[in-house]
Amino acid sequence: MQIISDIQQMQSLATSLKREGKRIAFVPTMGFLHAGHASLLREGRRRGDVLVLSIFVNPIQFGQNEDLDLYPRDVERDCRIAAECGVDIVFTPDAAGMYPPGFQTGVTVREVSLPLCGASRPGHFDGVATVVAKLFNIVQPDLALFGRKDYQQLAVIRRMVLDLCMPVEIVGMPIVRETDGLAMSSRNAYLSQEQRRSALCLHRTVVAARKMFAAGERRVDVMRKAAQETIGQEPSVSIEYVEFRDGATLEEQEIVDNATLLALAVKIGQTRLIDNTVLGEEL
Ligand code: PAJ
Repeated sequence: MQIISDIQQMQSLATSLKREGKRIAFVPTMGFLHAGHASLLREGRRRGDVLVLSIFVNPIQFGQNEDLDLYPRDVERDCRIAAECGVDIVFTPDAAGMYPPGFQTGVTVREVSLPLCGASRPGHFDGVATVVAKLFNIVQPDLALFGRKDYQQLAVIRRMVLDLCMPVEIVGMPIVRETDGLAMSSRNAYLSQEQRRSALCLHRTVVAARKMFAAGERRVDVMRKAAQETIGQEPSVSIEYVEFRDGATLEEQEIVDNATLLALAVKIGQTRLIDNTVLGEEL
């Protein structure tokens, strides 16, 4: 396994691999890897000739009062996990290289970026789209894998690739959960034991909404109220949003169907957690 931090070196290696006809699979991450990241890597290993993992805590997708400085980092441990997953190249650029003095270009994906996390984190998806576009230009992947845990992010990336004719196949992967249902996230490391227990209300809400849907309920107002009540039973959890939206366009709905996305964002202490489910898809 090769570890490359130099952008030029990564880009010319990718160019020569492509010339040899190699299919490059790519998993972009911010590191502190867990089983969710590993599932993307394993699928990438299966689908590509060369598997590239990037680790870069992207400063421009964090808001002013967010956790950029606190974001957990452990590159050594990440490299061990990467090796176990069959990664060929770990790409670890630094912020000075990615955003040189005078940097002034960005990618904005408009409508899909606006609701949900985009509403509470203004500029976040511009930062994500911009860094992913840059990483695609450097790594030149044939396919890139993203988790459905960050459902809106995946929708933004799909839209960007379509709109800008990027020659990359985007693969969306299922949410990997702890055995008790908590969606895996690098940010779970921030939670105390007590907060970790409260965080299970997200999964409970997802399961309860799916049950209501399976039992025939279709009214968004009824389902939203039930979801808010489930989360409300945990006094230490504050709701950022509970929304039912079209799974493709993220537009609001009044009546749910198989393709409806339930998206949740809460704060527990300083920690922001998200979860989601598409009602008609497997959990
Ligand atoms: P990060 O949060 O490190 O996540 C990297 C990838 O892992 C994303 O595609 C995310 O959806 C996926 N992932 C995280 N938790 C998961 C889980 N429990 N199950 C399945 N997949 C999961 O997302 C980012 O980094 C950044 O925004 C990035 C795309 C790298 C741009 O900076």
